[in-house]
Amino acid sequence: MTRHVLLLSLIVIFPYSTASFADNEDTIKYRQHLMNILSLNLKSSSLILKGKIKADIAGHNAAILDSSYKLSSLFPEGSDFGDTDAKEAVWTQNEKFNSELLKFNNSAIAFNKEPSMQTFSDVTKSCKSCHKAFREK
Ligand code: HEC
Repeated sequence: MTRHVLLLSLIVIFPYSTASFADNEDTIKYRQHLMNILSLNLKSSSLILKGKIKADIAGHNAAILDSSYKLSSLFPEGSDFGDTDAKEAVWTQNEKFNSELLKFNNSAIAFNKEPSMQTFSDVTKSCKSCHKAFREK
């Protein structure tokens, strides 16, 4: 009984997921952090792929893949102003933005499955392709 009451009050207090509770400024900060994490994982992968460092690449490409899934929920309506370099086109050219997300996700899947200079290069190409259209210089 007590457990039911507790559960019920939690549902009343937290009716939405924490993601939808997030303030837009925090969403912007979070997506910028995630982008930087992507960048650092790519740089680390590059050293391993070139044989300059002996380390396991698996953690890096898994992190890139994980971030590629997270990205799609990090551009909600209302997170288009404030301290952001995202172009307005993210929200006005939805179809194109989603196709960039999908392209990136596919390249991250391929890189995770088979890390090579080729799959690495495809990932960096999809970062650049999205930035060209959707990120202020
Ligand atoms: C689907 C589009 C998209 C993809 C794919 C993408 N980015 Fe971004 N990136 C953006 C946008 C939009 C911004 C601006 C975000 C903001 O300021 O709110 C950004 C910002 C950044 C930043 C600057 C973060 C900061 O501190 O302001 C870095 C670094 C970055 N991206 C790296 C990457 C890397 C590396 C990849 C690929 C592994 C990648 N991005 C893939 C759209 C994308």
